[in-house]
Parts: sequence; structure tokens; C-alpha cells
Amino acid sequence: MYVLRNELGLNGPQFGCGLEQCGACKVLLGAQARPACRLPVSEVGQTPVTTLEGLGESGQLHPVQQAFIQAQAAQCGFCSNGMMIETAALLQHNPHPTDEQIRAALDHNLCRCGAHLRILRAVKLAADLSQRESA
Ligand code: FES
Ligand code: FES
Repeated sequence: MYVLRNELGLNGPQFGCGLEQCGACKVLLGAQARPACRLPVSEVGQTPVTTLEGLGESGQLHPVQQAFIQAQAAQCGFCSNGMMIETAALLQHNPHPTDEQIRAALDHNLCRCGAHLRILRAVKLAADLSQRESA
């Protein structure tokens, strides 16, 4: 987290609890969403780390980012990084998740603003947009 934010200027991951409890700091480590707040650099090895900044192609938002904007799935936005990273990881291995599977995947990402229903809608929209993009 400190390397990403302070050394590399990648401020997508947010510092919330610092205890792997809230999910605000998540990054993709390979294809897995992982909290970065307590992830030591030594554990990363050669595995690629993708932050929210690197999710889309250059100049083009990732379908998950498009969907969260379109569904206005945020109030303060503090949880959005973790929600989008977790959604991207979910859709990579389950392109058509059910509501229950979405809730289970996002269970460890906390939102204090109560934007959960909009976030749920955004994940479903992201699944649709991803499918359209790959068709
Ligand atoms: S800041 Fe990492 S999980 Fe809360
Ligand atoms: S939108 Fe504020 S914490 Fe989720």
C-alpha cells in the first residue's frame, strides 16, 4: 500500500482500517483481489499487481468502471476502489454471478454509506457490459 501510494503515486487503493477488514485498499494480485494494506512487497514476488488505475486499457475505462459510473454506485466513494477491484476479480472467474454470489464476493468490502443496492446493480451491469465487449 505504501509503495503503491507513496512511491508510485497510484492512489486508487484507499487506506481505511489498515487491518484487512474493510477492503478499501484492494488490488489485483494476479487474478485475486487482495487487501494491500498489510501485503508485504516480499510476498508479491513476480505476480503482477493491478490497481484501479490499471484496470482499463489506456484511454478506455474497464467495463466495471463504466458500470459503477453509470449506476452511480457510490456516495462518498471511499469503498469504490475495493468494490470495483473485487468485482473485476469476480467477473474474471464467474462472468454471470447470481445476486447471492455477488453478495458473497463483496462480503468483505464494507460500505458505510449504504450504497449496497446501487453497487449490486453496478456489478450486474458490469457483467452485461463485459459480455457485450467480448461478443
Ligand atoms: S485498509 Fe486494507 S482492508 Fe481496510
Ligand atoms: S460509498 Fe461511502 S463507503 Fe461506500
